[in-house]
Amino acid sequence: MRTPLIAGNWKMHKTVADTVKYVKELRLLVRDVTGVDIVIAPPFTALHAAAEASRNSHIGIAAQDLHWEREGAFTGEISAPMIVEAGAAYVIIGHSERRTLFGETDPSVNRKLAAAFGAGLTPIVCIGETLDQRERGDTFGVLDRQITQGLDGITSEQVVQLVIAYEPVWAIGTGRNATAAQAEDAHGHIRKRLQNWFGADGAERCRVIYGGSVKPENIGELAGQPDVDGALVGGASLDVKGFVEIVSRSRGAAV
Ligand code: PGA
Repeated sequence: MRTPLIAGNWKMHKTVADTVKYVKELRLLVRDVTGVDIVIAPPFTALHAAAEASRNSHIGIAAQDLHWEREGAFTGEISAPMIVEAGAAYVIIGHSERRTLFGETDPSVNRKLAAAFGAGLTPIVCIGETLDQRERGDTFGVLDRQITQGLDGITSEQVVQLVIAYEPVWAIGTGRNATAAQAEDAHGHIRKRLQNWFGADGAERCRVIYGGSVKPENIGELAGQPDVDGALVGGASLDVKGFVEIVSRSRGAAV
């Protein structure tokens, strides 16, 4: 039985002060919520403050990216041990904005994934097709490529810890979410591939969450699909009350 996970990806939003205020409110609002893992991903500058403000709560903290080396001459980069020290337990890898705007590739996703596992972080690896790829009928081909290259070398034990976020690029920040049927179709495909490559147990336990224009109004239907294990929420996670609504409407949540 997979515990659903709802993660808020703040992208380049919120200062340290905004973060502390948000987390204080969030921890009160989700105090009695069980049956769902709740994660927020603030910018690097606010990670430590978020971790401190969420101490002794069941809110998990995620970084939005990492570098694969532990340390070195990599101006502007942040390593997995630094993220762990700041108090995060999760890290997002391969978000489509990193792929399209900052040159992230499947091989770099793969190196980052190894670094995340090496430091004991739970990776949230993002995959998904563009509109053009979908219209060409290449959705599954793209997902297969991103999974084979991105997850290359990881073990069946590791896949159990892994979170995959299926985020169709055309649904991110557009207000146009995938329908529940489209999401289930892709998630079912991803799980089948995981089964081929990592065996039934790993595939059954790996969480595959959906991302792309998730809102309080559509989370119920999306998360109600058998292979959709929660959501990665961008814009709608910035407002704490809206985020809590998404958390409490997700499958498995008990308030
Ligand atoms: P969105 O972003 O919810 O604003 O569409 C999702 C994401 O980028 O993870």
